[in-house]
Amino acid sequence: MPTPRPKIVVVGSLNVDHTLRVPHIPAPGETLTSSSMLTCFGGKGANQAVAAARAGGAVSMIGCVGHDDFGSRYIEHLHSEGIDTTGLIRSAAPTGSAFIAVDDHGENSIIVNAGANHAITLDDIENQASLIRGAELLLLQLECPLPVVQRAAEIARAAGVQVILNPSPLSAEYLAARFAVDTLIVNEGEAAQITPGQNLREAMCRHLIITRGADTTLSITADRTEEIAPPQVTPIDTVGAGDTFTGAFAVASSEGCENPVHFANAAGALATLKPGAQPAIPTRQEIEAFASR
Ligand code: RIB
Repeated sequence: MPTPRPKIVVVGSLNVDHTLRVPHIPAPGETLTSSSMLTCFGGKGANQAVAAARAGGAVSMIGCVGHDDFGSRYIEHLHSEGIDTTGLIRSAAPTGSAFIAVDDHGENSIIVNAGANHAITLDDIENQASLIRGAELLLLQLECPLPVVQRAAEIARAAGVQVILNPSPLSAEYLAARFAVDTLIVNEGEAAQITPGQNLREAMCRHLIITRGADTTLSITADRTEEIAPPQVTPIDTVGAGDTFTGAFAVASSEGCENPVHFANAAGALATLKPGAQPAIPTRQEIEAFASR
């Protein structure tokens, strides 16, 4: 009998990304000419949702887009990915957008215009509480208002739904008001600000995962600390790689996979090999083939 697909709800952001390829990240006051521009779907929340759907999850997205053409096209795009959009609302504010510079080494610099992502309210989350309670796992990041993210986590945890938070972009507001989740996924820079001593109590989670680029990923629980080596690749664009790691990890851990970090490392590495956020997110077949090399 086929394994049922894990039910995953994502509360988060949806952006249209405008990615400019540049020789280096511009310095203050510098004007650069880009060699190409790519406009594609992005936003940390929707990137996680697409990553989880392509990895095999049954995904629902809660968030907000504008009444503009980008908002309509975004909803159609999520449908084409098999993602449930009944939790999406629309706002008079424009659909969120991100302006991204990617240099010749694959490094990036991002400016986000939150737009409709900041129009989602606590009432909107209460209206979607049954969708959250019906999930196995809730995925969160920090591109929507913090009270909304925190309330979603509370609703989920009260219903026994696992909560995974990627606290990115890290904010002073989050550091001051941190709240309990099951799994916290951070990069090294974020870990240093949240819990320099890699302490679960300080991080307010049971499982702390620290991604470290090409270096080993740390997986820390009360019982043990593991280091899982990611596949070595030459990245061309790292935008969305962390979101892909998180979405893939969510599916693998919900399925009870023996080493979900290994699966997520493979997904994150693959996401660096193509330009753009969502165009680069791998399918489950691609992840499995890559992870078993
Ligand atoms: O994490 C990558 C994402 O950050 C991009 O897709 C962009 O929209 C910004 O939100």
